[in-house]
Amino acid sequence: MAADYRNISVEVDDGVATLTVDRQEVLNALDVRTTEEIAAAAIALDADPDVRAVIVTGGGDKAFVAGADISVLVTYGPEQGRRAAAAGQRAFDLLERMGKPVIAAINGYALGGGCELALACHIRIASERAKIGLPEINLSIIPGHGGTQRLPRLVGKGRALELICRGQPIDAETAERIGLVNQVVPHEELGAVTQALAAELASKAPIAMRYCIQAVNEGIETSLVEGQVIESTYFGLCCATEDKKEGMTAFLEKRQAEWKGR
Ligand code: COA
Repeated sequence: MAADYRNISVEVDDGVATLTVDRQEVLNALDVRTTEEIAAAAIALDADPDVRAVIVTGGGDKAFVAGADISVLVTYGPEQGRRAAAAGQRAFDLLERMGKPVIAAINGYALGGGCELALACHIRIASERAKIGLPEINLSIIPGHGGTQRLPRLVGKGRALELICRGQPIDAETAERIGLVNQVVPHEELGAVTQALAAELASKAPIAMRYCIQAVNEGIETSLVEGQVIESTYFGLCCATEDKKEGMTAFLEKRQAEWKGR
């Protein structure tokens, strides 16, 4: 699998996969191939039962992803633009819909498509050096990989419109204050903190983990009443698993549970 990738790398170690966007000469900017590789990796990682958590990060020390590749964008007419935006949306949807936790380790600039990539992840941890924003307005375009939709869901409409309409990136501390990132850490600790979080999440019961993510993802797009039907349905499905029996038996026997993923 990994051999086919040119602009990303994927490494799996002890249940944790690390997907690194790696075009350092352009600060990991996304071109069509890179977006397609992210989509292919998301499908493969979701299907791999040995992968229990995923970290998404950027190659090098300067950028997570500095946006869509402007040297490609400049050539687009309307139909190419629409298709490219839709392809990016599909790739990031695949990440968001993964049935295992996806953590963005934001190691530097996360601009435009880079910010949108981070928004599609389930949890965001930022280096104190991170700069995060949607600067598309400064190029006379709008965010096209889900940013106008995911950002207001995460930080509220007012904050999102300020970020989108001003096009001014914010620092990591501000991003944490408004809820755009979960945690800010010293730059040199980013790898260790995200690895530890991924390992913790990878140790949880995999089927219940998938249902936690699906219940939140699916419920947030619907009404409270419908969302709670989704929740109770997944709750019921958890009750059909061997792991539910094991988890509760282990608690009552005061021992560590051993998950089977069944
Ligand atoms: N698309 C294409 N190339 C990009 C890029 C992008 N989104 N972001 C950076 N690069 C390239 C630069 O053109 C430069 O290439 P060069 O060495 O051939 O000149 C290289 O990456 C390094 O970037 P540079 O601008 O020299 O670094 P910097 O530290 O001065 O500035 C940024 C860093 C992130 C502030 C700046 O690169 C930038 O504003 N990038 C565009 C961000 C953006 O608008 N993204 C949204 C696109 S829709």
